Amino acid sequence: MKIGATFLLNRICIPILCIVVCLAASACGNRNLKFPEEIDMGHTGMSGHEGHAGSTISTGSERSCEKLVEAKSDGPTRTFELTAAKTSANVPGGKTTKAWTFNGSTPGPELRVREGDRVVVKLSNQDIGKGVTIHWHGVVLPCSQDGVAGVTQDAVMPGEQFTYEFVAKHPGTYWYHSHQQSSEQATMGLIGRLIVEPKSTTFRYDRDYAVTLQKLNDKQYLTNGRADGLALEAKPGETVRLRLINAYNEVQWMGVAGADFRVISMDGQDLNGPRALNGEWIPIGGGQRYDLLITMPENGQVQVYSKERKEWNIALGQGRAPEKLDKDAKEFDFTSYGTPKEDGITPQMKFDRSYNLELGLLDINGRQFHEIPPLVVKEGDWVKVRFEHKFGGPHPMHLHGHIFKVLTKNGKALSGSPIYADSILLLRGDVYEIAFRADNPGLWMEHCHNLGHAANGMTMMVNYEGVTTPFRVGTKSGNLPD
Ligand code: C2O
Ligand code: CU
Repeated sequence: MKIGATFLLNRICIPILCIVVCLAASACGNRNLKFPEEIDMGHTGMSGHEGHAGSTISTGSERSCEKLVEAKSDGPTRTFELTAAKTSANVPGGKTTKAWTFNGSTPGPELRVREGDRVVVKLSNQDIGKGVTIHWHGVVLPCSQDGVAGVTQDAVMPGEQFTYEFVAKHPGTYWYHSHQQSSEQATMGLIGRLIVEPKSTTFRYDRDYAVTLQKLNDKQYLTNGRADGLALEAKPGETVRLRLINAYNEVQWMGVAGADFRVISMDGQDLNGPRALNGEWIPIGGGQRYDLLITMPENGQVQVYSKERKEWNIALGQGRAPEKLDKDAKEFDFTSYGTPKEDGITPQMKFDRSYNLELGLLDINGRQFHEIPPLVVKEGDWVKVRFEHKFGGPHPMHLHGHIFKVLTKNGKALSGSPIYADSILLLRGDVYEIAFRADNPGLWMEHCHNLGHAANGMTMMVNYEGVTTPFRVGTKSGNLPD
């Protein structure tokens, strides 16, 4: 009874409180909740729901996240240097604004590597006072390289350096951003693209473009750093791979006008047998990536653009402007798109752990931040997570360190191509089940990638038994990953 009442109280009071607090702060991206002095994000102690014993299991075989590094590899090494600094960004087509940048621009440099390359990135912090990190969003890499302040490393303070090193195992479209005060720092401009080109491609194309959609400094809507849209070269008859990255918090409904298109990849993972589509809005949640394949018409232009923001407009090729989509055109539905392919992962299979996460306005299962019990897993487990959207705006839920498979939507198994991703966008009332294999020991964040929501409570952990961290989150260390 008591639990029921507390739960109800949380469900009702937290949303109301948050609305009030958010309004008072006038921006939901600000940290409004009191943060403790010191938290160990690596604990497994508060679990216990769904029948799993939750105490920290001390088996004597404990491993520190810091020691989980990339193994030796044969591929070529690609080395990059990124310097975070306070600058003023000269925005083509817009106003010069204050920004925090990697190498002087936002987005920072596009890092292009090949599948199998060893990626070495030397991060320096020039003058970002609260410190910075780089999180490689969507990349499956060892725990120590995940770039989460207070979990996998300390924030890199002004004058300090940190070198990341990982093998780009999975080809696809990824991005990077600071994971120290990520809500504020990503908005201020500490973001960039990471493209891993495939060794052998399933899809043929003549041109390959990657485009970041971002809202800088909470003011300007930028398409690859421009405030007035982007024009990309493409000739009639050519096929273009367009990699769209939503680095903003809100869902972007993107349309393609002037040609058929295929969705060939979501979150960097290829789809199987994607068929041609025409005139559908593609909902791209915060942090998500969609790759489109478009063949240019014989005469005329193709436009890929946002339903809501005219600044987010990509014009491909020259010629007559295409007729735009109806505002209430169909919405792209990945649950029945493409061709099925057996991989042995089904809703009926036996799972070692099943978890249920109910998403409120700014809470998960009625709790926030470190008060949300971590999902505890053991290496080798098959894990199922059920997400249910209960309240508030869209929640693009993102998991670090793993690629999961989407099993069901609203109780119905997916019937098209398998969908592998690192995030799942939940719109009002949605219920999704996802599955992943616990094959990457570590301490991994699981959070809403509306980073404003994350900074206000929708942040939790997936923790492997026996993995610890020497780092701490909190006001004492100054590590606040959001
Ligand atoms: Cu873009 Cu914790 O992630
Ligand atoms: Cu959210």
